[in-house]
Amino acid sequence: VKAIGVFDSGIGGLTVVKELARQLPYEDIVYLGDTARVPYGTKSESTIVRFTLENILFLLRQDVKFIVIACNTASSIALELVKKYFQIPIIGVIKPGAKQAVRVTRNKRVGVIGTAATIRTAAYESQIRRLDPSIKVTSCACPLFVPLVEEGQRNQKIIFDAASQYLKPLKKARVDTLILGCTHYPLLKPVIKKVMGRDIILVDSALQVASEVRAALAAEGILNVKRPLKNVKRIFNVTDEPRTFLALAERFLGYTVNKVKKVDYV
Ligand code: DGL
Repeated sequence: VKAIGVFDSGIGGLTVVKELARQLPYEDIVYLGDTARVPYGTKSESTIVRFTLENILFLLRQDVKFIVIACNTASSIALELVKKYFQIPIIGVIKPGAKQAVRVTRNKRVGVIGTAATIRTAAYESQIRRLDPSIKVTSCACPLFVPLVEEGQRNQKIIFDAASQYLKPLKKARVDTLILGCTHYPLLKPVIKKVMGRDIILVDSALQVASEVRAALAAEGILNVKRPLKNVKRIFNVTDEPRTFLALAERFLGYTVNKVKKVDYV
């Protein structure tokens, strides 16, 4: 059985793995977290493209049938560019998230938050425009969110203050829908809701991407529909020592991971 390959700049992609595992319980998953080089969100385009290519080549060596770029930064910068060099289907998180936002907005004002690199590309914005040019998109980078989540900040006030500051332009633009355009942001849903108001519709790309992967596998006739769950494999690889990954994984995934392999591939 061939697996689905998933990569992210680090640990955040586990929010996508969580959804994939929920919606595709019979699929094997091989994950790669590029923890030695995280974060991608602060880096330049050419570096992110290079890292993306290297991650894809690693996954191809694991004999996968489908690749998911769980990282919003890598998806927005590198997906369109690298896709044409590979035969294997590769999907990112941008299009699925954009589609869902277009579907659910009522007032046609959509907000996007992500890393500095993601926001700079305006990838979500151009996808939304393509689907419905009448939608007004307001985007904001929230660079402190990733470290705050990874630090496991329990001091809600720091997160709340950062969110209030970052989300100001989105409140002002009266968006009714907000795309969480970064792997880490689903963990901040309660705070973001508190700042944006109860009625805000939060679009979690992880949820959408999992249902698109499901549809794509089904369309190609390569979806595993039933097999003994004990045979289903979830393999986690990282590029740095696994210590931090192991400590944080449960928060992103909902359960503890006990085996993580450190790999060297560049
Ligand atoms: N995984 C990245 C993303 O979704 C966030 C962490 C990083 O900056 O590498 O954009």
